[in-house]
Parts: sequence; C-alpha cells; structure tokens
Amino acid sequence: MGGKVNCKSFLNGKAIPRHVALILDGNGRWARRRGLPRMAGHRAGAKVLPRAAEWCRDAGVEVLSVFCFSTENWNRPPAEVNGLLRLFDVLLRRNFPRLLRERIRLRWLGRPEGLPDRIVETLRALEKETAKFCDFQLCLAINYGGRDEMVRAVRRSRESSGKGPEDWPDLARLLDTADLPEVDLLIRTSGERRISNFLPLQSAYAELYFTDCLWPDFSREELRRALEDFGDRRRSFGTVAAEEDQDR
Ligand code: IPE
Ligand code: MG
Repeated sequence: MGGKVNCKSFLNGKAIPRHVALILDGNGRWARRRGLPRMAGHRAGAKVLPRAAEWCRDAGVEVLSVFCFSTENWNRPPAEVNGLLRLFDVLLRRNFPRLLRERIRLRWLGRPEGLPDRIVETLRALEKETAKFCDFQLCLAINYGGRDEMVRAVRRSRESSGKGPEDWPDLARLLDTADLPEVDLLIRTSGERRISNFLPLQSAYAELYFTDCLWPDFSREELRRALEDFGDRRRSFGTVAAEEDQDR
C-alpha cells in the first residue's frame, strides 16, 4: 500500500463519514462492454475491493460495509451463483494474510443458510483471527438482506427473552451490525439509484451518493469525490441546523 494519506489534507478538513456502505454494482456491464463473460467482470471487481478498503481506511473512515451477495442474488443463473461462491471462497482465503498485515478487522453480515460450509467456516475464522484489530473494520455482506436481518433479530429476541425488541437500541443490538456506528454515507456504483435492501435500518439517516462509474473502474479518485460530496452535505437528523434557527 502507498503512504498513508493524511485525512485532513485528503478532504480539506471536511467531515469524514465514520461508516461507509458500498453497493458495488456494474460488474456485468463492465464485462459486456468488453465482450467478456460476466464472471470476468466479477473477477475484475473483486480485485478493486481490498484496495477500496485501504483507501477508505487511509481517509479516516472507520467502517466499510460492502454488499457482495444478497439474499436475492440466488435468483441469478446457477452458473453465475456458483462462480461467485467459488470466487468468494478463493478470495477470502487468499486475502487472509493481507487483512492480518493491514490490521483490518473483518466482519460478516448475513445468514449462513444456503452458503457452502467452507465459506461460512472461512468467514468465521477470519472474524475470530482479526477480532483483535480495532482501527478499521471491513464488513462483507454475503447472503445478506436487510429484511432477513431484521426477522432474524426479532426471532433471536423472542428466543432469548420471550418477547420482541422494545425499542430501536434494543433491536440494533441484535442486528448483524451490533455495536457498529450507523451508516453515514451510502455509495452505489453503476448509475442505479436504489438501496436494494442493504442496511435499510442502519442507513435511515445516511447520505446517499450515486455514481455512474462501474464497480471494476472504481478508483481512489472516485472515492475522494464521494467523500468530498459527503463533506459538503448538511445533516440535520430531523432537527433544525443551528444557523437556520432564526427564532432563537
Ligand atoms: C454487482 O455487479 C455484483 C454483485 C452484486 C454480485 P452486477 O453483476 O449486478 O453487474 P450488472 O448490474 O449486471 O452490470
Ligand atoms: Mg447489478
């Protein structure tokens, strides 16, 4: 990795999101434009991911959550689903040393049902091995859906206490993202403007950023633009910003 970028100079002193959610999209279109099979797009996209994590960390972001495979992605053609699962398996194993070297904590968001045991075991081993790192967390959403996460959380609550969650903090503690900060900035590539069931509760107050860039073309410059844009937003969380309050 290149020299660590000072986050202040990177963003001219603007606010930095603590938690960035990333919907990486456009792998298939990237491949089609080159006359390549869709899997070539997924492989090219996978190469960018560890770098994107390091760019985020260098900019001062604390958590990056990435939508890798949704509970709805099982509906893709079987050959593509199998290709993606094989790709995750290989990449998780190959990037194990890199995570340790870069002191990145890995976390898995999603449900085990349906995933090959091998992938579940690797994800759990990675979570365990990297749990000691606290500077930067990379959350991989694999077999994840926000509605599914919510239902699992409610079920867990009923199993442990016989009743559902009482309030939002009660529910938040039971989500896959327990003890992570809420999403500040959600980025989606490829020109699509949807949230697609990715961290819907955690993104309730997130700033949304959409770029036409296809995921395999994502770059440090693209990230910089998204972070700059975030730094220019005014977040009121439903209240009135102090400078707007003329009644005071
Ligand atoms: C995103 O790229 C990859 C995954 C969610 C697995 P797509 O495969 O959705 O790419 P397009 O939308 O077909 O271009
Ligand atoms: Mg897509």
